[in-house]
Amino acid sequence: MAIVEFSNVTFRYHPEEEPILEDFSFSVERGEFVSIIGQSGCGKSTLFRLLTGLETPQKGEIRINGKPVQKGSHLSSLQPQKDLLFPWFTVWENVALPLSLQRIPKGKQRQAAEAVLAQVGLDPSLAEKYPSALSGGMRQRVAFARTLLDGAQVLLLDEPFSALDCLTRMDLQEWLRDNWLKLEKTILFITHDVEEALFLSQEVAVLQGKKPFSAALMRQVPLPKERSRAHLACEAVEREKLYLMDVLKGGAR
Ligand SMILES: Nc1ncnc2c1ncn2[C@@H]1O[C@H](COP(=O)(O)OP(=O)(O)O)[C@@H](O)[C@H]1O
Ligand SMILES: [Mg+2]
Repeated sequence: MAIVEFSNVTFRYHPEEEPILEDFSFSVERGEFVSIIGQSGCGKSTLFRLLTGLETPQKGEIRINGKPVQKGSHLSSLQPQKDLLFPWFTVWENVALPLSLQRIPKGKQRQAAEAVLAQVGLDPSLAEKYPSALSGGMRQRVAFARTLLDGAQVLLLDEPFSALDCLTRMDLQEWLRDNWLKLEKTILFITHDVEEALFLSQEVAVLQGKKPFSAALMRQVPLPKERSRAHLACEAVEREKLYLMDVLKGGAR
């Protein structure tokens, strides 16, 4: 059964503007890792704004776990494009932010933050540090721990690795895949990097062509669930990569 479902959704930010989505249908199965790619400004982050109820479609329905998404409904956890760690909070306070907003007592917050840091393989000694003491890669791990602590089954990660250097990024990609295999969450992951999409996900959704979109082009990644970076060099993946890049440039359909 689909866990994320857009049914005939039409959405525009302003009444006088052309819609970004028109009669858009899209679904993701439970437990999947789906990457979303498309040209800059095409509407990828907008899909996440709709899924979190920050924006409301003019027409159609969006459901997560069978429940309609509404303003304030908490059916997915968003990790926004910027990591948004607050410099005046320690790591554990940053991670516990979703709980602090629910006014959970401090002691419980800290316990939960430490548990989730351990769950994603981060050293407990990190808890008392401030974000300024962390590398870019570490900040992203902490931001992910916070997204996880937020508690939803569906995680929405918006270009989390785009500002990282190449080696850190590869490291984080492997780390995220290991976590996905372990956590049994459904992940939607926005990226503009085709290779990253292929390495991370089971399926790639492409917003292609001109707005408004009525569907995403869905492509299965020709790789097993257990994979290593070396798989990226195989012929089927190379072919898929060229195909996807061509689609992004507006060529192949
Ligand atoms: N809050 C907003 N209000 C009005 N227009 C917006 C808002 N956010 C994004 N847009 C516009 O919607 C389009 C899609 O944006 P976005 O979803 O951020 O694209 P992407 O994430 O694919 O780069 C762009 O033209 C952008 O300028
Ligand atoms: Mg975006």
